Amino acid sequence: MKYERFLNSPTFKRFVRRRLFDRESVFSRMLLAWFSARSMGRRLPATPEGMRDSELFKQWWYYSFELAPGVMTSSSFPADFPLLPRMLLRNAELAGCDCLDIGSVEGLMPILMCRQGARDVFATNPHLYNYEKMQAVRKLFGVNFKFRQIGSLYDVSRKLGNKSFDLINLSGVLYHVWSPMHVIAGLRPLLKKNGLMILSTNVVKRNDFSMEFNDRGKLQREATTYWYPSIPLYDYLLRYFELLPIDCLYHPYARDDSTRFTSEFESGYLSVVCRATDDPSFDSDDGWAPESITDSYESILLWDRAKQAAQPVSTIGYRHAPDPQLLHANGRSLDLWKAVDALPPVGAASQPQDTHALLLADRA
Ligand SMILES: C[S@@+](CC[C@H](N)C(=O)[O-])C[C@H]1O[C@@H](n2cnc3c(N)ncnc32)[C@H](O)[C@@H]1O
Repeated sequence: MKYERFLNSPTFKRFVRRRLFDRESVFSRMLLAWFSARSMGRRLPATPEGMRDSELFKQWWYYSFELAPGVMTSSSFPADFPLLPRMLLRNAELAGCDCLDIGSVEGLMPILMCRQGARDVFATNPHLYNYEKMQAVRKLFGVNFKFRQIGSLYDVSRKLGNKSFDLINLSGVLYHVWSPMHVIAGLRPLLKKNGLMILSTNVVKRNDFSMEFNDRGKLQREATTYWYPSIPLYDYLLRYFELLPIDCLYHPYARDDSTRFTSEFESGYLSVVCRATDDPSFDSDDGWAPESITDSYESILLWDRAKQAAQPVSTIGYRHAPDPQLLHANGRSLDLWKAVDALPPVGAASQPQDTHALLLADRA
């Protein structure tokens, strides 16, 4: 009885939860062994009817997957809610490339990276909660990607060792962390020179350099949402990490959205494709940024620039050139404020291929 009370106590539950974010912990290893044993003994239902009746189908799903012809899982998103990084990924020439996806949940983006011809794809999640579903869709969609449990998103470059990627997708994650700059600093060294990074997050549509905090849940009730940067700040931070914006899509949140509140601020989701550069692009009179990049304590302690400098060169192509009218004055990267203002916003999606739903036949 005493033993049962201890197992059910908040202290023990918190202890286990914390360990479940650590891939080396005994709890994570046991869970992985348990999932692997279960998947060995279990065959995926062969018929649409069997799939519809399965435990797999009835689970909570972040994305909507077609698990068998005509059998779509539920999703956390409305059917026409656009998935901007998916739309941008289509322009990346992935044949023969190595790709990393951060916060993959069940793995929609890694599946598409494989289907678009990538050579080696790594999916990641902080924990193993979605591992079984990810294994199932990997099999059902006939692709082969690797998975790493990475726990906290800080210092990912240390956790992934000497890996190099042509393309990294960091989408839907930066608003979930206390320190977005620390996360970008930790990932940037894994990107090959001239590689591509897609970074997507919630932003406030305001022409200044600020970041709005989600106090009292004023932006979203969701308890792990913290920061929305303003668009010019987001642009500046990307260039700080030696990433030049070359393409973007913006989805403004609707006034009647009951999840993403816009009553205090105009806000939306901004997805940006950046090209890695050695030469950050700041105004000639901005002496602060170059000095901060090379000499600040945070840069020295948290950004492994030696690893970054040792990366090989990527030849990854991108099938879209930015409109010269929308570039910063130095002509090297998109001015995101100008781009969001000038380009047509992305509204409700008109085809499932632009959403969080993945059909068995989808290639992109
Ligand atoms: C909103 S989902 C985004 C999924 C996907 N990347 C996309 O854009 O469709 C957030 C992802 O980040 C992970 N995540 C959320 N907060 C995190 C944190 N503080 N540390 C590490 N991962 C986190 C979640 O587990 C999930 O995989």
